[in-house]
Amino acid sequence: QDTAREDTPRKTAKKSPEELRSHRWYGVDDLRAFGHRSRALQMGYDHQDFMGKPIIGIINTWSDINPCHAHFRVRVEDVKRGIWQAGGFPIELPAISLSEPFQKPSTMLYRNLLAMETEELLRSYPIDGAVLMGGCDKTTPATVMGAISMNLPFVFMPAGPMMRGHYAGTILGSGSDTWKYWAEREAGNIDAQEWKEIEAGIARSHGTCMTMGTASTMTSITEALGLTLPGASSIPAADAAHPRMASSCGRRIVEMVWDDLKPSDILTRKSVENALYVHNALAGSTNAMIHLVAMARRADVPISLQDFDDYAQKVPVIANLRPSGAWLMEDFHIAGGIRALLKRLEGVLHLDALTVAGISMGEAIADARVYDDDVIRPLDNPISSSGGTAILYGNLAPKGCVMKPPAAEPHLLQHTGPALVFDNYAQMKKAVADPDLDVTADHIMVLRHAGPIGGPGMPEWGMLPIPKKLLKQGVRDMLRISDARMSGTSYGACILHVAPEAAIGGPLAALRTGDMITVDVHNRRIDVALSDAEIADRLKGYVPPPRDYPRGYYKMYTQHIAQADTGCDFDFLEGSGGIPEPEIN
Ligand code: FES
Ligand code: MG
Repeated sequence: QDTAREDTPRKTAKKSPEELRSHRWYGVDDLRAFGHRSRALQMGYDHQDFMGKPIIGIINTWSDINPCHAHFRVRVEDVKRGIWQAGGFPIELPAISLSEPFQKPSTMLYRNLLAMETEELLRSYPIDGAVLMGGCDKTTPATVMGAISMNLPFVFMPAGPMMRGHYAGTILGSGSDTWKYWAEREAGNIDAQEWKEIEAGIARSHGTCMTMGTASTMTSITEALGLTLPGASSIPAADAAHPRMASSCGRRIVEMVWDDLKPSDILTRKSVENALYVHNALAGSTNAMIHLVAMARRADVPISLQDFDDYAQKVPVIANLRPSGAWLMEDFHIAGGIRALLKRLEGVLHLDALTVAGISMGEAIADARVYDDDVIRPLDNPISSSGGTAILYGNLAPKGCVMKPPAAEPHLLQHTGPALVFDNYAQMKKAVADPDLDVTADHIMVLRHAGPIGGPGMPEWGMLPIPKKLLKQGVRDMLRISDARMSGTSYGACILHVAPEAAIGGPLAALRTGDMITVDVHNRRIDVALSDAEIADRLKGYVPPPRDYPRGYYKMYTQHIAQADTGCDFDFLEGSGGIPEPEIN
């Protein structure tokens, strides 16, 4: 079935053509407007194509090196079809494509760059409203953050998840099964031929990772915020419903411009709380605990890391999706998709929150149904009785750190063990391959200098590989702590985003191998058996690894990046408004 909804009827327009932002470029009788019109005619457009029409910017994050957005090159034509149909004028604006698999050291380094690019493209061109085409991990928060700050009407159009993976009769999930089968290969249980077959079977179509990784978490959250058309975020990229949804986005944004429905009308504490509920019900990616904070702060809705934990107590995990559960996004879509999951959460959601469709969240899910109670569980038969998030504090993480309890082996949720500390990724990588490494399953592995500044860009190194020696003994999970992030498709007892990070003198920097660490997830604590004075004393002699970037983006990044608990935005980008409209001269 098709969970994308019929287009909603046009409401009474609040704007006249003369009030459109683009009127200043095209509509007036002066020298500059003459130039804009003649240059539009130069491209083969007629006056009736663009005069007096809402000009819709389509932020397209397509690239030859982004497999998750491979279909955007043609999908944009479906968006344009919808815009033309509704009487708008489409302008495609290519923007930097943050390709999760290929871009190093991490796409996270560039999230704020895409946010800046989105905001400034919309500001500097004659744009009245926007369709944001994103989906691969950071492209969602990035484009949304920029568009929130610009505060023009916009619709977010998710790329959609790829098809299920297959290998020898087994269903494979993006990321999660890469780690899982790599561990089996390291343990000697899989040969080179099998590994090759997995490589060819795990990613079978365009579209984003089809586990509940960062991509699907962020697009689902964006839908919960009211920023997509109802049902859009679970439609698989290769499903015929996807181009139909794309043209629907095109039609709807034209109406939104006439109605002057802006992100500031949609994003409120209520819509952000809806996103917090959904994040927990999905056992969504830990990355969302950075991105949602950053998105909300752009909208001047303050939320804290602690909010994630507070809302985790109010909803169970009901999406049975990998890495915390069994199924994949295609199954989720067929089971009713995100609208069906939202329907299950009806009792707690703010149903009066507005969506870009011009209807309330309650109206958007009114007729939604669950078609498979195993994929989308009833509230009384959840995957986990509390939500997918825990925020821990303690003398190792004064500003907090995050973990996903449903993805960890339960015996590790309350554990004391000796630290095994690594100063960088290369050191850690070498150590875990060493068959004689001094390590037991009780050890707590620590990777530091992998945070927003230390990485730089907070790479997804937080699921430290289990040492080969332990893999051969059958160990598949152990406690790991870092100031890094981990992929949303990762799993295990990984404690992430430790703030403040080691590279700016956070307490992780004071840690030594052999120090006893206690992690107590039930009581939300993470502590090392050292007094405050001992920690302070050790930090006195701490010298961070050199990170002097003489110029360029890296320099700006390290000077302005915020820590994980406040969303890793640049200090000068938070909030919205305050920038004058460009002069047209
Ligand atoms: Fe693009 Fe996972 S790599 S969504
Ligand atoms: Mg990812």
